[in-house]
Amino acid sequence: MPDDANDLVEGVWPHSAHRGDGGELVVGGVSAGELARTYGTPLQVLDETEVRRRASQLRAAFERAAQAHGTSVRIYYAGKALLNTSIVRWVLAEGLNVDVCTGGELEVALAGGADAAQLGFHGNNKSVAELERAVAVGVGTIVIDSDIEIERLAAIVSRTDAEQRVMLRVNSGVHAETHDFLATAHEDQKFGFPLDRAAAAVARIREIEGLVFVGLHCHIGSQIFGVAGFRESASRVLDLHQQLLAGGDVPQLNLGGGFGIAYTRADDPTPIGELAEGIVSAVAEGCAARGTRVPALAFEPGRAIVGNAGITLYEIGTTKDVALENATRRYVSVDGGMSDNARPALYGAAYSARLASRSGSADPVLVRVVGKHCESGDIVVDHDYLPGDLAPGDLLAVAATGAYCAPLSSNYNHVPRPPIVAVADGASRVIVRGETIDDLLARDAGIAQ
Ligand code: LLP
Repeated sequence: MPDDANDLVEGVWPHSAHRGDGGELVVGGVSAGELARTYGTPLQVLDETEVRRRASQLRAAFERAAQAHGTSVRIYYAGKALLNTSIVRWVLAEGLNVDVCTGGELEVALAGGADAAQLGFHGNNKSVAELERAVAVGVGTIVIDSDIEIERLAAIVSRTDAEQRVMLRVNSGVHAETHDFLATAHEDQKFGFPLDRAAAAVARIREIEGLVFVGLHCHIGSQIFGVAGFRESASRVLDLHQQLLAGGDVPQLNLGGGFGIAYTRADDPTPIGELAEGIVSAVAEGCAARGTRVPALAFEPGRAIVGNAGITLYEIGTTKDVALENATRRYVSVDGGMSDNARPALYGAAYSARLASRSGSADPVLVRVVGKHCESGDIVVDHDYLPGDLAPGDLLAVAATGAYCAPLSSNYNHVPRPPIVAVADGASRVIVRGETIDDLLARDAGIAQ
């Protein structure tokens, strides 16, 4: 139980988050009450300064590490974590590139002003139409994921006379998740080429006029703490990298994303400078041991840039005390739920919540924050402690909802998706409008339009 159930844990909440008059939560200089009155609830709030700060910190940390080890680095923001044209503009302004994994993400990145040459395009099943579009607009790098995709791209570049830079996604057999990593010879999953199949694929790519092979790509998982998994994976990939040098240049190496963040006070992610130095030094040492040149590096963080920049504001609707064997749990129902944040239901993900309309004054009680959906697994925050005087009508904020919440959102139970509002320097503005009931009805062909 925390000493103070009103505290805003450093690193979990945006840097700007603090308690203003009456203990009201303020983010980006705008109070929770003002946000709720202006835009309603539920509401996804994104602290623009925090997104930019994290993007530039990441870039600076990796550039510092790369420079120290005699190479260069590009940071691609992984758009799957949260993508809209405003975020694209912010990360481009901070000197990042953007990683997309579908034709839809590609269009948002382009609409946000990305130069196609700044984009990387992933995905294990890119359609011919998606690949044609990517080649036509001049996407910087396409990350090839299968033999079939090599032939699809070969046909496209031969038909269009284009030149396309490509990487090959390999599966290093390292799978990292939060505190642990597993290393096996063959990982049983859909992405990439097993290491022992990759050389043949690269040889095939090198035969194709119009495809320019630039290097290997590897992504070992998401929400990873520590550097051990990245170091192990880099060492395995560097063996292949060295082998490929016999057949031509391999100027780049992309080690993916996956840097973990703090969702609750229990999480202790590796500081970004330590992570950057730990990973880049592993590559540099691995290259020195093999007598090869350190390739230009690339990374693709998503969550680490937007996760802690986002909070979700809800209004408390009902509360209910349920007796447990030796405690009482207060169920606190809010006006959203698994439609705006599916991660607790999908992954058992942990979140933390705080009263936002005011500080509470009563002793903390054990709560479970739940949504309004017809499903007992509709959990927003599995457990946390909140002031016992919380009541219907209070605003509740959930921290660290910036990544993989809006992108995984749904209209389950015909609940409209909330707007996304950016806050910075005391001002707020809608960056993605909320859905309306008309939006929900618009696709039903049985309704006369
Ligand atoms: N690069 C590749 C090739 C990826 O597949 C991913 C994430 C990333 C970069 C970015 O990973 P990040 O830095 O954001 O961890 N929906 C799940 C996460 C799925 C991640 C998929 N790939 C979640 O909500 O936890």
